[in-house]
Parts: sequence; structure tokens; C-alpha cells
Amino acid sequence: MTPAFSGFFITGTDTEIGKTALTAALTHLLGQSGRRAVAIKPIAAGLEQVDGRWVNDDVQRLRAASNIEVQDQEVGPLQLRHACAPHIAAVLENVAIDRQALLAEVRRTAAKAEVSVVEGVGGFCVPLVEGASPWDSADLAVDLALPVVLVVGMRLGCINHALLSAEAIRARGLKLVAWVANQVDPNMGHADANFATLSQRLQAPCWGRVPFLLQADPAHIAPYLNAPAVLQELVAHPAPSPRQNIVILISGSGSNMQAIAETAQTEQWAQRHGIQIAAVISNRADAAGLPIAKRLGLHTEVLPHTQFASRTDFDAALRQLIDRFAPDLVVLAGFMRVLTPEFVQHYAGRLINIHPSLLPAFPGLNTHQRAIEAGCKVAGATVHEVSVEVDQGHILAQTVVPVLPDDDAETLAQRVLAAEHRLYPTAVRQKLSQKLSQN
Ligand code: GAR
Repeated sequence: MTPAFSGFFITGTDTEIGKTALTAALTHLLGQSGRRAVAIKPIAAGLEQVDGRWVNDDVQRLRAASNIEVQDQEVGPLQLRHACAPHIAAVLENVAIDRQALLAEVRRTAAKAEVSVVEGVGGFCVPLVEGASPWDSADLAVDLALPVVLVVGMRLGCINHALLSAEAIRARGLKLVAWVANQVDPNMGHADANFATLSQRLQAPCWGRVPFLLQADPAHIAPYLNAPAVLQELVAHPAPSPRQNIVILISGSGSNMQAIAETAQTEQWAQRHGIQIAAVISNRADAAGLPIAKRLGLHTEVLPHTQFASRTDFDAALRQLIDRFAPDLVVLAGFMRVLTPEFVQHYAGRLINIHPSLLPAFPGLNTHQRAIEAGCKVAGATVHEVSVEVDQGHILAQTVVPVLPDDDAETLAQRVLAAEHRLYPTAVRQKLSQKLSQN
């Protein structure tokens, strides 16, 4: 997994065990090393009124620990009033938590700093959103793909909490980079023996053992942390290369989408080229490609065109949805809609399509039947930039297959589709590398 940016994700064995204090202390330590450091709490629950203003205490502390100029809203992009699990607070406050929008805000704040320390919510698996597309704090860590630091609140029962958390972190494919022991119960029995057991079983370095402190401000805690180990880890994980987002639009079977996604996985596009498929969007809820995309771990969205009065309205809503994913490339893969000029112009230079013919021959529908009837000896597919005129944009790549004497439209379509699956992934990657070299 390629981290979204340079930094750490802080989780804890429970709520109220000093996660915010440790996040602030780590941010302070990184700032002291000369780096521009920011702490981010994507979702904060519990607001109180101070001088007529609703504020979240954790957000205030994290903002103070950052050594760059940031607003409350940048440190805590989603602040809920009720001090309870976010999915419950969101319902109480009638707030729709938008995963992609929130992630984009986190990335924007992180982009202001060299290193970011992101605090999760409560324990590792706290739900954030329920319903058809559930999202939890662990998913948030996966979305950001940051190395995870586990804060263990040292009190009776912490061994089990810590071991389960470590197991869950690793099960999500994340790296448990370190743990920190934070003494939350000053009268805990056998604290040393508990610490020894955790050290032995967690199979990750301990970055510090923080005693019970009455003053929990970052400057007091930071000296208990192993600064060389923290900084060494940052060097080992340098900031990733710029990320490029693909949004794929489908209407039906989605086999081209599948070919692109599988090639991206096999060729490790994320790790090697910083390319990720940010979303797969369908205009049909029953598109067979949707469950395939989900199985491949891709984020999916459905926007039924039937719910809109006009093509213009649908295209405007589609544009809004796509733009939430900050796309560098929008890939039409069997997306069977004619697009409005406004839509096409909005994505000029970053909208491509695959068409099952050797353009400029046979634009439009029934391409295979028409090729057979015209007596063509070869057929094929074309990847092209989308222009206002249907199937006429600049040609990026083509593939050729023979037309065999006993072909019908069906057998030819199958041969062309198999060739499309080889052509499209390569064309997508080349288009993105080209864009990168132009920037
Ligand atoms: C593909 O053959 C593609 O070329 C064609 O639809 C099929 C989609 O298959 N596209 C067009 O005809 C666009 N004018 P898929 O959903 O399995 O990728």
C-alpha cells in the first residue's frame, strides 16, 4: 500500500486512553526535528461552547501542537456535537458523512505540511458510517494507508485490547509500526509485568512508556518518546510520489473495468506509479460490473440517469459526483450514454473511451455486424480521447483482430472484447504517464 502522504495513523486500545495526547506529542516531536508537522483528527465527536463558539477540545490541542498555520476546520474537518460514536452522532445531527469528501479534506490539510499525524476515532474499528456502504475507523486507516501507531492505555485488561487491535491492524494489511504504553491508571497492579508481556507479544517496537502525568501537554510527553526511532521510520517511508486518480464509468458487464483493475493490481500501479482507481460509477444499479468492482475492493457509486429530467441535469450531477474523486483521468468503459458538450469540455484532455471498431470506421452501434457486412478482413478496437462529436476524438491506441470466414457478430464481438482487455489497461497507464511527464 502506498501511503496517501508522509506520516502516521494513531489508534488506541479504547477511547479516553490518551490518543490525542500522544498524537499531539508525536506532532510536537516531529516539529522539533525541523519538519513542518500537522496533526489531523478527521472526525471529532463532542463540542462545547467556549466564548460563544462551539469547539472540540481535541481539535484545539492538535492544532496547538502543529507548527504550521492551520484552521480548526483543517485539523478537524468533521466535528460532531454529540460526544458518542460518530455514526450515532451523525444520525442525531442529521449529518451525512461523505467518505471521499472527508478524505479529500484530510489530504488537503496534509499537503500543507511535510509530515502529518492522523488520529483515528476511539478504538480501531469504531463505525463511522452505517448502511449500504459502511465505513469504519479501520477503513479510514486503510484509505490513508499510513503506518499505524497503537497507543495502549495501561490498565487492567489492556493486554487483550492491545493484542486484538494489533491483529485487526495487520488483518487490514496495514503496518503496525510501533506501540506506545500510556499509563492511564496510576494504581494499576503489575504494570511492569503487563508492559513486559505487551513488549513480547505485540511484535512491534515500543516507541515509549509514558508514566501517569498530571500535565498531559505535548512538550511534557514528547521526551518519553523514542525520537530517533520515530525519525528513522519517516526516512524509511519517504513521501510518496504524486497520486493520480482514475474514475471509471460503466453501464453493463464492466469487463474492461475489471481488466484495468486487475492489471493495476498485478502491475502494482499504486506502488510503482501512484495510480489508484478512486471510484467506479455506474448509471445503472443492476450493472453486472458493480459487484465485480466491489469484489476487487473498489469504491462504487450508482447514479441512475432515469432519476433526472434531462441529459443536462444528469450530466451535471455526474460531473459533481466524479469531481469528488479529484480525477486525473475519467475512463469510459462500456458507459452507454451520449455526453453533453459541457461535460466533455469539463474533462478535456482527461476523458477517454474504448470503442469496438477500428475508428474512424464504424462509429456508433452494431459495429461487428457492420464490419462483417462490409466484408472487412480485420476488425478491432480503438481507445480515443472523447470529443464533442461521438467516437471522433484523437486516437490513442488500437488493436486489430482477424475477421474469420464463419464469424457472426457474436463471435467477432468476443474476439474484439478479449483484445480490448489487453489494449485498454496499457492505454490508460500510458495516458497517465504522459500526463505526469507533462506536469
Ligand atoms: C466494449 O466492447 C466496449 O468497447 C463497448 O462496450 C463494451 C463494454 O463491455 N463500448 C462501446 O460500444 C462504446 N461506444 P464491458 O462493459 O464488458 O467493458
